[in-house]
Amino acid sequence: MEIAAFLPKTYTHTKEQGSVTWKSPSNIALIKYWGKKDSQIPQNPSISFTLDACATTTKLSYTKKPIKSNDFSFDLIFEGKQKDDFKPKVHTFFQRIELYLPFLKEYHFTIETSNSFPHSSGIASSASGMSALALCLMSLEKELNPTMTAEFFKQKASFLSRLGSGSASRSIEGDIVVWGTHKYTEGSSDLYGIKYPYKVHDVFKNYYDTILLVDKGEKQVSSTVGHNLMHNHPFAKQRFDQAHENLTKIQSILAEGNLDKFISLVESEALTLHAMMMTSTPYFILMKPNTLEIINRIWKFRQESGTHVCFTLDAGANVHVLYPEYEKDTVYPFIQKELLNFCQKGHHICDRVGFGAKKA
Ligand code: DP6
Repeated sequence: MEIAAFLPKTYTHTKEQGSVTWKSPSNIALIKYWGKKDSQIPQNPSISFTLDACATTTKLSYTKKPIKSNDFSFDLIFEGKQKDDFKPKVHTFFQRIELYLPFLKEYHFTIETSNSFPHSSGIASSASGMSALALCLMSLEKELNPTMTAEFFKQKASFLSRLGSGSASRSIEGDIVVWGTHKYTEGSSDLYGIKYPYKVHDVFKNYYDTILLVDKGEKQVSSTVGHNLMHNHPFAKQRFDQAHENLTKIQSILAEGNLDKFISLVESEALTLHAMMMTSTPYFILMKPNTLEIINRIWKFRQESGTHVCFTLDAGANVHVLYPEYEKDTVYPFIQKELLNFCQKGHHICDRVGFGAKKA
Protein backbone atom coordinates (compact mmCIF):
# COMPACT_ATOMS: atom_id res chain seq x y z
CA MET A 1 0.00 0.00 0.00
CA GLU A 2 1.33 3.45 -0.96
CA ILE A 3 1.11 6.65 1.10
CA ALA A 4 -1.63 8.04 -1.18
CA ALA A 5 -3.96 5.26 -0.01
CA PHE A 6 -4.06 6.92 3.42
CA LEU A 7 -5.25 10.28 2.10
CA PRO A 8 -8.99 10.30 2.69
CA LYS A 9 -11.47 10.83 -0.10
CA THR A 10 -14.56 12.93 0.68
CA TYR A 11 -16.38 11.80 3.79
CA THR A 12 -19.92 10.52 3.37
CA HIS A 13 -21.12 11.21 6.93
CA THR A 14 -20.87 13.92 9.58
CA LYS A 15 -20.53 13.61 13.32
CA GLU A 16 -21.25 16.45 15.74
CA GLN A 17 -19.92 14.92 18.92
CA GLY A 18 -19.09 11.68 20.63
CA SER A 19 -16.39 9.78 22.44
CA VAL A 20 -14.41 6.58 22.07
CA THR A 21 -11.93 4.67 24.22
CA TRP A 22 -9.08 2.38 23.20
CA LYS A 23 -6.63 0.40 25.27
CA SER A 24 -3.36 -0.15 23.44
CA PRO A 25 -0.35 -2.16 24.61
CA SER A 26 3.36 -1.55 24.64
CA ASN A 27 5.68 -3.88 22.72
CA ILE A 28 9.21 -5.19 23.07
CA ALA A 29 11.43 -5.43 19.99
CA LEU A 30 13.36 -8.65 19.36
CA ILE A 31 15.08 -7.11 16.34
CA LYS A 32 15.56 -3.45 17.05
CA TYR A 33 14.55 -0.29 15.22
CA TRP A 34 17.42 2.12 15.70
CA GLY A 35 17.96 4.78 13.04
CA LYS A 36 15.34 6.52 10.95
CA LYS A 37 14.93 8.71 7.90
CA ASP A 38 12.47 11.61 7.51
CA SER A 39 8.80 11.03 8.37
CA GLN A 40 9.59 8.22 10.74
CA ILE A 41 10.74 5.85 8.00
CA PRO A 42 12.93 3.19 9.65
CA GLN A 43 16.44 2.49 8.44
CA ASN A 44 15.84 -1.23 8.97
CA PRO A 45 12.95 -3.59 9.61
CA SER A 46 12.15 -4.65 13.18
CA ILE A 47 10.04 -7.33 14.85
CA SER A 48 8.43 -7.31 18.28
CA PHE A 49 6.33 -9.18 20.76
CA THR A 50 3.19 -7.22 21.56
CA LEU A 51 2.81 -6.99 25.34
CA ASP A 52 -0.28 -7.51 27.42
CA ALA A 53 -0.11 -5.83 30.83
CA CYS A 54 1.78 -2.64 29.90
CA ALA A 55 -0.85 -0.52 28.17
CA THR A 56 -2.31 2.95 27.77
CA THR A 57 -6.05 3.61 27.91
CA THR A 58 -7.17 6.73 26.09
CA LYS A 59 -10.62 8.24 25.89
CA LEU A 60 -11.12 10.77 23.12
CA SER A 61 -14.16 13.06 23.38
CA TYR A 62 -14.87 15.30 20.42
CA THR A 63 -17.21 18.18 19.67
CA LYS A 64 -17.50 19.81 16.27
CA LYS A 65 -16.76 23.54 16.34
CA PRO A 66 -19.03 26.01 14.52
CA ILE A 67 -16.15 26.85 12.18
CA LYS A 68 -12.82 25.17 11.47
CA SER A 69 -10.07 26.94 13.44
CA ASN A 70 -6.53 27.79 12.36
CA ASP A 71 -4.94 25.59 14.99
CA PHE A 72 -5.71 22.33 16.77
CA SER A 73 -7.73 22.63 19.93
CA PHE A 74 -7.50 19.99 22.62
CA ASP A 75 -7.25 19.43 26.37
CA LEU A 76 -5.00 16.75 27.74
CA ILE A 77 -5.79 14.96 30.96
CA PHE A 78 -3.23 12.47 32.19
CA GLU A 79 -4.26 10.23 35.07
CA GLY A 80 -7.04 12.60 36.06
CA LYS A 81 -4.99 15.81 35.96
CA GLN A 82 -4.58 18.45 33.28
CA LYS A 83 -1.13 17.84 31.83
CA ASP A 84 0.03 20.74 29.71
CA ASP A 85 3.65 19.54 29.41
CA PHE A 86 2.48 16.61 27.23
CA LYS A 87 0.67 18.98 24.85
CA PRO A 88 3.58 19.84 22.53
CA LYS A 89 4.05 16.13 21.71
CA VAL A 90 0.39 15.75 20.78
CA HIS A 91 0.50 19.02 18.83
CA THR A 92 3.45 17.77 16.77
CA PHE A 93 1.63 14.48 16.23
CA PHE A 94 -1.48 16.33 14.98
CA GLN A 95 0.68 18.39 12.62
CA ARG A 96 2.23 15.24 11.17
CA ILE A 97 -1.09 13.47 10.63
CA GLU A 98 -3.36 16.36 9.58
CA LEU A 99 -2.82 15.58 5.91
CA TYR A 100 -4.30 12.13 6.50
CA LEU A 101 -7.07 13.25 8.88
CA PRO A 102 -8.17 16.63 7.51
CA PHE A 103 -11.00 16.97 10.05
CA LEU A 104 -8.64 17.55 13.01
CA LYS A 105 -9.07 21.34 13.10
CA GLU A 106 -12.87 21.01 12.88
CA TYR A 107 -13.19 19.55 16.38
CA HIS A 108 -12.32 20.33 19.94
CA PHE A 109 -10.87 17.21 21.59
CA THR A 110 -10.54 16.14 25.18
CA ILE A 111 -7.92 13.43 25.53
CA GLU A 112 -8.04 11.52 28.81
CA THR A 113 -5.22 9.06 29.12
CA SER A 114 -3.69 6.76 31.72
CA ASN A 115 -1.05 4.05 31.80
CA SER A 116 -1.21 0.67 33.49
CA PHE A 117 2.39 1.18 34.59
CA PRO A 118 3.83 4.07 36.63
CA HIS A 119 4.85 7.01 34.46
CA SER A 120 8.21 7.28 36.20
CA SER A 121 8.97 3.58 35.70
CA GLY A 122 11.26 4.15 32.74
CA ILE A 123 8.86 2.13 30.60
CA ALA A 124 8.38 4.10 27.41
CA SER A 125 4.76 5.07 27.02
CA SER A 126 5.16 6.44 23.51
CA ALA A 127 4.28 3.14 21.77
CA SER A 128 1.13 2.48 23.77
CA GLY A 129 0.19 6.16 24.10
CA MET A 130 0.55 7.14 20.46
CA SER A 131 -1.17 4.00 19.20
CA ALA A 132 -4.11 4.46 21.60
CA LEU A 133 -4.61 8.04 20.38
CA ALA A 134 -4.25 7.03 16.72
CA LEU A 135 -6.89 4.32 17.20
CA CYS A 136 -9.32 6.79 18.80
CA LEU A 137 -8.86 9.17 15.85
CA MET A 138 -9.42 6.29 13.43
CA SER A 139 -12.69 5.48 15.20
CA LEU A 140 -13.80 9.06 14.52
CA GLU A 141 -12.72 8.75 10.89
CA LYS A 142 -14.75 5.56 10.64
CA GLU A 143 -17.83 7.51 11.78
CA LEU A 144 -17.22 9.84 8.83
CA ASN A 145 -16.56 6.97 6.44
CA PRO A 146 -18.46 3.92 7.74
CA THR A 147 -17.63 1.71 4.76
CA MET A 148 -13.95 1.56 5.78
CA THR A 149 -12.82 -2.07 6.10
CA ALA A 150 -11.44 -3.51 9.35
CA GLU A 151 -8.19 -4.28 7.52
CA PHE A 152 -7.76 -0.70 6.34
CA PHE A 153 -8.68 0.61 9.81
CA LYS A 154 -5.82 -1.34 11.39
CA GLN A 155 -3.34 -0.48 8.67
CA LYS A 156 -4.06 3.25 8.82
CA ALA A 157 -4.04 3.16 12.65
CA SER A 158 -0.53 1.70 12.47
CA PHE A 159 0.47 4.21 9.77
CA LEU A 160 -0.67 7.15 11.95
CA SER A 161 0.89 5.63 15.09
CA ARG A 162 4.22 5.46 13.27
CA LEU A 163 4.07 9.20 12.68
CA GLY A 164 3.69 9.64 16.45
CA SER A 165 6.43 7.20 17.42
CA GLY A 166 8.04 4.58 15.20
CA SER A 167 7.65 1.67 17.60
CA ALA A 168 3.96 2.59 18.12
CA SER A 169 3.27 1.19 14.65
CA ARG A 170 3.93 -2.25 16.18
CA SER A 171 1.32 -1.89 18.97
CA ILE A 172 -1.96 -2.23 17.07
CA GLU A 173 -1.97 -5.99 16.64
CA GLY A 174 -0.52 -9.05 18.33
CA ASP A 175 1.14 -11.28 18.96
CA ILE A 176 4.19 -10.69 16.77
CA VAL A 177 4.51 -7.68 14.48
CA VAL A 178 6.98 -6.73 11.73
CA TRP A 179 7.50 -3.10 10.75
CA GLY A 180 9.81 -2.07 7.91
CA THR A 181 10.24 -3.38 4.42
CA HIS A 182 12.00 -6.75 4.35
CA LYS A 183 12.58 -8.68 1.13
CA TYR A 184 11.53 -12.00 2.62
CA THR A 185 8.50 -10.85 4.64
CA GLU A 186 5.49 -10.65 2.39
CA GLY A 187 3.40 -7.51 2.87
CA SER A 188 6.02 -5.79 5.06
CA SER A 189 6.18 -2.02 4.76
CA ASP A 190 8.13 0.97 6.04
CA LEU A 191 4.79 2.76 6.45
CA TYR A 192 3.03 0.47 8.96
CA GLY A 193 3.40 -2.69 10.98
CA ILE A 194 1.91 -6.03 9.91
CA LYS A 195 1.04 -9.09 11.89
CA TYR A 196 3.89 -11.56 11.40
CA PRO A 197 2.61 -13.60 8.46
CA TYR A 198 4.42 -16.94 8.90
CA LYS A 199 4.28 -19.99 11.10
CA VAL A 200 5.06 -19.54 14.80
CA HIS A 201 5.84 -22.53 17.05
CA ASP A 202 3.61 -22.96 20.09
CA VAL A 203 6.54 -22.34 22.47
CA PHE A 204 6.33 -18.64 21.57
CA LYS A 205 2.64 -18.42 22.39
CA ASN A 206 2.18 -16.72 25.73
CA TYR A 207 5.92 -16.03 26.10
CA TYR A 208 6.72 -14.30 29.40
CA ASP A 209 8.41 -10.92 29.78
CA THR A 210 9.27 -9.85 33.32
CA ILE A 211 10.41 -6.25 33.15
CA LEU A 212 12.99 -5.31 35.76
CA LEU A 213 12.96 -1.63 36.64
CA VAL A 214 16.63 -0.97 37.24
CA ASP A 215 16.52 2.75 36.65
CA LYS A 216 13.27 4.64 36.85
CA GLY A 217 14.63 8.07 36.02
CA GLU A 218 13.94 10.13 32.93
CA LYS A 219 15.52 8.74 29.78
CA GLN A 220 19.15 9.83 29.47
CA VAL A 221 18.90 9.89 25.70
CA SER A 222 15.58 10.74 24.06
CA SER A 223 14.61 8.48 21.17
CA THR A 224 14.93 11.39 18.72
CA VAL A 225 18.50 12.06 19.81
CA GLY A 226 19.21 8.33 19.86
CA HIS A 227 17.99 7.62 16.34
CA ASN A 228 19.94 10.62 15.06
CA LEU A 229 23.14 9.05 16.37
CA MET A 230 22.85 6.55 13.52
CA HIS A 231 23.40 9.33 10.96
CA ASN A 232 27.09 9.21 10.00
CA HIS A 233 27.63 6.34 12.44
CA PRO A 234 30.74 4.37 11.39
CA PHE A 235 28.88 1.03 11.64
CA ALA A 236 25.48 2.14 10.39
CA LYS A 237 25.46 0.25 7.13
CA GLN A 238 26.65 -3.00 8.73
CA ARG A 239 24.00 -2.65 11.44
CA PHE A 240 21.15 -2.04 9.01
CA ASP A 241 22.27 -4.99 6.86
CA GLN A 242 22.52 -7.16 9.98
CA ALA A 243 18.94 -6.34 11.00
CA HIS A 244 17.71 -7.51 7.58
CA GLU A 245 19.72 -10.73 7.92
CA ASN A 246 18.47 -11.29 11.47
CA LEU A 247 14.89 -10.90 10.35
CA THR A 248 15.48 -13.60 7.76
CA LYS A 249 17.11 -15.82 10.42
CA ILE A 250 14.33 -15.40 12.95
CA GLN A 251 11.77 -16.84 10.55
CA SER A 252 13.06 -20.40 10.86
CA ILE A 253 13.70 -19.89 14.60
CA LEU A 254 10.08 -18.86 15.12
CA ALA A 255 8.77 -21.69 12.96
CA GLU A 256 10.89 -24.43 14.55
CA GLY A 257 10.74 -23.14 18.12
CA ASN A 258 14.53 -23.25 18.34
CA LEU A 259 15.04 -21.53 21.69
CA ASP A 260 18.85 -21.71 21.70
CA LYS A 261 19.03 -19.83 18.42
CA PHE A 262 16.29 -17.46 19.62
CA ILE A 263 18.35 -16.58 22.71
CA SER A 264 21.54 -15.93 20.69
CA LEU A 265 19.77 -13.70 18.25
CA VAL A 266 17.69 -11.72 20.76
CA GLU A 267 20.55 -11.10 23.20
CA SER A 268 22.88 -10.14 20.37
CA GLU A 269 20.31 -7.63 19.09
CA ALA A 270 20.02 -6.05 22.54
CA LEU A 271 23.78 -5.75 22.95
CA THR A 272 24.18 -4.46 19.40
CA LEU A 273 21.68 -1.69 20.12
CA HIS A 274 23.79 -0.64 23.09
CA ALA A 275 27.01 -1.09 21.13
CA MET A 276 25.67 1.39 18.58
CA MET A 277 25.18 3.91 21.37
CA MET A 278 28.63 3.28 22.79
CA THR A 279 30.26 3.79 19.38
CA SER A 280 28.39 6.89 18.20
CA THR A 281 29.43 10.51 18.49
CA PRO A 282 28.61 11.58 21.13
CA TYR A 283 28.68 8.20 22.90
CA PHE A 284 26.48 6.92 25.71
CA ILE A 285 26.43 4.04 28.14
CA LEU A 286 22.80 3.45 29.03
CA MET A 287 23.31 0.27 31.00
CA LYS A 288 23.88 0.63 34.75
CA PRO A 289 26.07 -1.64 36.90
CA ASN A 290 22.86 -3.43 37.98
CA THR A 291 21.95 -4.08 34.35
CA LEU A 292 25.23 -5.95 33.89
CA GLU A 293 24.83 -7.78 37.18
CA ILE A 294 21.39 -9.00 36.06
CA ILE A 295 22.70 -10.10 32.66
CA ASN A 296 25.54 -12.08 34.27
CA ARG A 297 23.17 -13.76 36.69
CA ILE A 298 20.79 -14.69 33.87
CA TRP A 299 23.68 -16.30 31.97
CA LYS A 300 24.85 -18.23 35.02
CA PHE A 301 21.35 -19.41 35.93
CA ARG A 302 20.60 -20.43 32.36
CA GLN A 303 23.64 -22.64 32.29
CA GLU A 304 23.00 -24.20 35.68
CA SER A 305 19.26 -24.71 35.27
CA GLY A 306 19.10 -25.69 31.61
CA THR A 307 16.20 -23.27 31.18
CA HIS A 308 15.84 -20.85 28.27
CA VAL A 309 15.67 -17.56 30.12
CA CYS A 310 17.23 -14.66 28.22
CA PHE A 311 17.17 -10.87 28.20
CA THR A 312 16.58 -7.97 25.92
CA LEU A 313 17.01 -4.25 26.47
CA ASP A 314 15.45 -1.01 25.31
CA ALA A 315 17.40 2.20 25.01
CA GLY A 316 17.86 2.31 28.78
CA ALA A 317 18.97 0.37 31.84
CA ASN A 318 15.84 -1.73 32.43
CA VAL A 319 15.99 -5.42 31.56
CA HIS A 320 13.25 -7.45 29.88
CA VAL A 321 13.60 -11.06 31.04
CA LEU A 322 12.09 -13.40 28.44
CA TYR A 323 11.17 -17.07 28.98
CA PRO A 324 8.65 -19.63 27.77
CA GLU A 325 5.50 -20.07 29.85
CA TYR A 326 6.31 -23.69 30.71
CA GLU A 327 9.47 -22.58 32.53
CA LYS A 328 7.77 -19.95 34.69
CA ASP A 329 7.78 -22.06 37.85
CA THR A 330 11.57 -22.30 37.70
CA VAL A 331 12.46 -18.92 36.25
CA TYR A 332 10.16 -16.59 38.22
CA PRO A 333 11.40 -17.79 41.65
CA PHE A 334 14.96 -17.21 40.38
CA ILE A 335 14.01 -13.66 39.34
CA GLN A 336 12.48 -13.02 42.76
CA LYS A 337 15.39 -14.46 44.68
CA GLU A 338 18.33 -13.21 42.64
CA LEU A 339 17.35 -10.36 40.36
CA LEU A 340 14.87 -8.15 42.21
CA ASN A 341 17.65 -6.95 44.55
CA PHE A 342 19.07 -5.10 41.57
CA CYS A 343 15.82 -3.28 40.77
CA GLN A 344 14.83 0.02 42.34
CA LYS A 345 12.86 -1.02 45.44
CA GLY A 346 12.39 -4.44 43.86
CA HIS A 347 10.05 -2.97 41.25
CA HIS A 348 9.18 -5.13 38.27
CA ILE A 349 6.26 -5.80 35.96
CA CYS A 350 5.06 -9.29 35.09
CA ASP A 351 4.05 -9.16 31.46
CA ARG A 352 3.62 -11.61 28.60
CA VAL A 353 2.86 -11.65 24.91
CA GLY A 354 -0.52 -10.10 24.13
CA PHE A 355 -2.92 -9.75 21.27
CA GLY A 356 -3.09 -6.07 20.43
CA ALA A 357 -5.25 -3.05 21.07
CA LYS A 358 -8.87 -3.29 22.13
CA LYS A 359 -11.75 -0.86 21.95
CA ALA A 360 -13.29 -0.37 25.38
C1 DP6 B 1 15.27 1.09 21.29
O1 DP6 B 1 9.85 4.30 18.67
O2 DP6 B 1 10.72 5.38 20.77
O3 DP6 B 1 12.93 0.85 21.68
O4 DP6 B 1 10.25 6.86 16.43
O5 DP6 B 1 11.64 8.50 17.69
O6 DP6 B 1 9.46 7.72 18.65
P1 DP6 B 1 10.66 7.37 17.78
O7 DP6 B 1 11.46 6.22 18.51
P2 DP6 B 1 10.96 4.97 19.36
O8 DP6 B 1 12.27 4.07 19.29
C2 DP6 B 1 12.31 2.82 19.90
C3 DP6 B 1 13.66 2.28 19.87
C4 DP6 B 1 13.88 1.00 20.65
C5 DP6 B 1 13.88 -0.22 19.74
C6 DP6 B 1 12.56 -0.68 19.22
O9 DP6 B 1 11.53 -0.55 19.91
O10 DP6 B 1 12.57 -1.25 18.11
